[in-house]
Amino acid sequence: MSGTGGRNGTMEKYFLATFGCQMNVYDSNLIGGMLEKKGMAVTGDAEEADVLIVNTCSIRGGAEDRAYARIAAMRHYKRRNPDVRIAVIGCMAQNHGDKIPVELDHVDYVVGPDNYRELEALLFQKKAKAPAVLTEQNAFENYDGIMAKLDSAVTCHITIMRGCNKRCTYCIVPTVRGVERSRESASIIEEVERAVSEGVKEVCLLGQTVNSYRTEGDDFASLLRKLNRIEGLKRIRFTSPHPRHFDSNTIRAMAESEKICNHVHMPVQSGSNAMLKKMRRQYTRERYLEIVAELRACIPNLGITTDIITGFVGETEADYRETLSLVEEVGFDSAFMFSYSPREGTPAFEEPETLTAEEKQDRLERLIQLQMGISEKRLDAMAGREEEILLEDRSSRDRNEWVGKTGCCKKVIIPDAPGLDKGSLVRARILSRSGLVLRGEAIIG
Ligand code: 5AD
Ligand code: SF4
Repeated sequence: MSGTGGRNGTMEKYFLATFGCQMNVYDSNLIGGMLEKKGMAVTGDAEEADVLIVNTCSIRGGAEDRAYARIAAMRHYKRRNPDVRIAVIGCMAQNHGDKIPVELDHVDYVVGPDNYRELEALLFQKKAKAPAVLTEQNAFENYDGIMAKLDSAVTCHITIMRGCNKRCTYCIVPTVRGVERSRESASIIEEVERAVSEGVKEVCLLGQTVNSYRTEGDDFASLLRKLNRIEGLKRIRFTSPHPRHFDSNTIRAMAESEKICNHVHMPVQSGSNAMLKKMRRQYTRERYLEIVAELRACIPNLGITTDIITGFVGETEADYRETLSLVEEVGFDSAFMFSYSPREGTPAFEEPETLTAEEKQDRLERLIQLQMGISEKRLDAMAGREEEILLEDRSSRDRNEWVGKTGCCKKVIIPDAPGLDKGSLVRARILSRSGLVLRGEAIIG
């Protein structure tokens, strides 16, 4: 390895903090892969790093505030050692660009999601004279040919498409992540096969609208079928599909491919047709329910999870109740629930908000309360069932217990037993629920 000289002449070290979604986690792994190939070593201790990288998120105001606070707190590393380099990357780097080194003058590099290939050269040079800001968008950048580091020995995330061609009126993603582009299936298959050869049992395919995946030769359903044939791979997941693209072809591919998990995370955002229209979601409540019914009819014991926004501009109490009733009607296994956060640069930002912060918070809390009860009921209904569980690791609380997941994406704790190992798929009986976690026991023999 061509090690670069770090402090005391040893290999240089990078520290990487990641905010936001799984796509950012994957991008951090891409960058880790690039830097380590060139001879930098990772460290979990920012104190000893020569290079500090913060991979940021812009989805809601709070995410940006947290990233700013983290970056601001890195100033003292630079004071202590002026040779330390600090890079801000990801969606907020794209969104705020030049503003970042003005507000935080200890930042050396600001690099958006389409410019990570340049990051390597920047970080290996000793020091920039002036902050470099690279935010030019590239509609073709797929990072093909770069091998991402693996998340864990058991499961890994793999980006299959980047960007978004939807224009949901509340969302900053299309602005910061650019237009949609899909990777060639051969390159995805190669990456999955390599992961499997290193011990990975489960992959989760990533994309902003993962099921609009399309290349000259493949669509999402044909990609799923190809991945299902990879030897040694045990499970396939994906996130997040857009309801607009959830067709019968995809549902058939899921039902017919034994490795595809019986779980769908399908963001609904609202149960009110008026709000869905205003959000420009391109489906109605009725269509969403129709997809859920078709999925449930074709895939036994399906787990369904979702994303919901409350308090969008113009949301009346009646609209909000439509969301509550949809949540009850579907009976989601769990949901990520958010209070609407206006994002500068989105169409909805131009409209004044119609609710106070307290009203928005109140709607969010009532929704969380409702969903919590439903989640518990869905978990309770699993007691007595026999499930296949992928063991991810020993429990950090009790090393004599294993933590795993069912195909429908429920966390299960089981006591250790002869023959159990990290990465094994075991049959287990579900016994009880404790909070939002299930307890079970392996069925041996
Ligand atoms: N405010 C609140 N939540 C948002 N999301 C996206 N944009 C916003 C916003 N401006 C939520 C959506 C999306 C998830 C990733 O984040 O529910 O599915
Ligand atoms: Fe944002 Fe809508 Fe694209 Fe999802 S589909 S990333 S919510 S614009």
